[in-house]
Amino acid sequence: MDNELINNRYEVISQIGLGGAGAIFQAYDTFLDRKVAIKKIFVDSHDQVERLKRECLFLQTIDHPNLVKAHEFFITNDRAYMVLEFIDGKSIDEIIVKNKYSMTLVGQLAIASQIARGIEVMNMGGIIHRDIKPQNVMLNPQTGEIKIVDLGTAKSLSKALSSITTAGSVIGTCAYMSPEQTKGAVCWSTDIFSLGVLLYQFFTWSERSPFYTNNIYATIKKIRDEKLIDLCTVVDISEASPEQQIAYEKISEVLVKALHKDPDVRWQNAGVIADLFNDIRMPLLGEAQENPHKYRIETARQICPGLRKELESMRKTYSTIG
Ligand SMILES: Nc1ncnc2c1ncn2[C@@H]1O[C@H](COP(=O)(O)OP(=O)(O)OP(=O)(O)O)[C@@H](O)[C@H]1O
Ligand SMILES: [Mg+2]
Repeated sequence: MDNELINNRYEVISQIGLGGAGAIFQAYDTFLDRKVAIKKIFVDSHDQVERLKRECLFLQTIDHPNLVKAHEFFITNDRAYMVLEFIDGKSIDEIIVKNKYSMTLVGQLAIASQIARGIEVMNMGGIIHRDIKPQNVMLNPQTGEIKIVDLGTAKSLSKALSSITTAGSVIGTCAYMSPEQTKGAVCWSTDIFSLGVLLYQFFTWSERSPFYTNNIYATIKKIRDEKLIDLCTVVDISEASPEQQIAYEKISEVLVKALHKDPDVRWQNAGVIADLFNDIRMPLLGEAQENPHKYRIETARQICPGLRKELESMRKTYSTIG
């Protein structure tokens, strides 16, 4: 793949990542004179191709700032290629691990709100991501914009679970799964549980999921049975300002409901979470040291009626596909 043009058009610059299902490259689109990201996927079934096509069509059709945009999809030599907009940024995982405490609570809330909004858009359009985790959320530090990547619809859940015992990295992935996912099921609040795990980790600046252990079965048991320590205890809010203490208490309440083991008791719509984080953020703006516009909160605004209508019709179309 080194010097040749992919699809007579894309020049590979470098490899960005290597996952279970394939590899991702930074490339140059010689037609449109721009950088792109290309995901090369080893397909093994017709079903998988259909899911990838669906993911790509969704990302091509839905123009929302909190979701990565897809440009095109094609198959050559039994490999599927997904051409995506190139996101100039870092994953949230990198921010948490390498840039600990690099932003204020105001910034964190803006990010949390945008991730929730992105999930709302996907779910409303009939897509359950199934793999919400810090590695699959990217932040452009210049604009403060969040984009969710790796829709994960191409992954077969049973496959992911069967590889759990062998692949170390899968333990990391598993630590963001919902209790029902550990039993092979998903539902409309599955992504909300994973969002809760991601945000609990983010607000506590922990390097790993709160359910992480070095043993897959112990992790699954924790996900199914263990109630997490209150966020305000882990963060130790005693040093925080009174406004921040109130904010942490409210965040904790939102997360407790997102992390409920029973999917029916959880928040049913990530949009509600996005709105709540926006509301919690408002009283803190006065004391923020940084530019309040740094984290483009406008992107987390409610979905406009036009997009809502489009998403609802997509959801009807997709409801028959697993
Ligand atoms: N459009 C993009 N622009 C820039 N970087 C990206 C883009 N999409 C993904 N990345 C980076 O590449 C990494 C891997 O991408 P992605 O999550 O899509 O694939 P993967 O995790 O390898 O896939 P899978 O889980 O299906 O094996 C991401 O964590 C992110 O850091
Ligand atoms: Mg990924």
